[in-house]
Amino acid sequence: APHHVVVVGSFNVDHVWNCRSLPRRGETLAGRYHTGPGGKGFNQAVAAARAGASTAFLCALGNDDGGRQARTLAESDGIALRVHDSAHATGTAGIYVDEAGNNTIVIGAGANADLGAAWVGRQAPVLAGARLLLAQLESPLDAVLEAMRLARAGGTMTMLNPAPANAECLRELLAAADILTPNETEFTALLECHTSHRVDSDALVATSDAQLHRLCRTLLPRGSVVVTLGAAGAFVSHREDLTRGDAEAFYRVPADRVEPVDTTGAGDAFNGALAASYAAAPERAFALHVRFANRYAAQSTQHVGAASGMPHLAVEIS
Ligand code: RIB
Ligand code: NA
Repeated sequence: APHHVVVVGSFNVDHVWNCRSLPRRGETLAGRYHTGPGGKGFNQAVAAARAGASTAFLCALGNDDGGRQARTLAESDGIALRVHDSAHATGTAGIYVDEAGNNTIVIGAGANADLGAAWVGRQAPVLAGARLLLAQLESPLDAVLEAMRLARAGGTMTMLNPAPANAECLRELLAAADILTPNETEFTALLECHTSHRVDSDALVATSDAQLHRLCRTLLPRGSVVVTLGAAGAFVSHREDLTRGDAEAFYRVPADRVEPVDTTGAGDAFNGALAASYAAAPERAFALHVRFANRYAAQSTQHVGAASGMPHLAVEIS
């Protein structure tokens, strides 16, 4: 059977240190250490699968323990893996988390950097057969762009999570996205790069909805934009004549209030859950899918670990 959701992206072995504060230059700190599966692509695929979507994940892995871990985990979550076998080591991430839940991350792309457009091109049937493609910017941009183009050509909806914030986001990638899901930092960075608007990301929460909507329309005139605002929830903006079942072209969806244990991968939880819910019932009001994604993301922060912390919480909308 064709997959509802196809995710193209990264797999990393996460090495996480929980410290009192983030280390400063020249400083040595003691922290509590744990390791587990991560990578924005894999986290989002696990979230989509645990939200109930039949899910495929396209990635590059090394011939090592990390690569074997990815295969085992994907299998236990029922995720269909398409792997480009890389001669490089499987991706890694070093993550420091302070007591307030802030983090700093260093990525060792490794095998992820070998995901190529030619290899993605050979996955055309998987991409064209799915209902929705979900991609991020932690993989080579030409591979991501090729996946988006092939999905579009096959009538598959495309969702782009433009993360991490410092990644370059090509204009062609934006143009190939039906739905764009930046957080505050990513949204501000995209506006700065692709429009004449300069907005302070801290000021977004206080920006009027009408103004946010104008900014979203400038950034992605033909698609929908979902700006995640952390504890302040999400802002949704549709093209006026393409409201995806919503009564309004723009609105806010409040976040669920929780006391987080670990916010690593919370954005990935939101994206995977939104993809699963929307793919399950694209005709239903989009606001329902965003509400589900908020709830799913909030629950993901109650568990330690990025991919491992994704809750088993199935979409309610079918
Ligand atoms: O979004 C969280 C993820 O970012 C982590 O799992 C880490 O691997 C980095 O890719
Ligand atoms: Na978590």
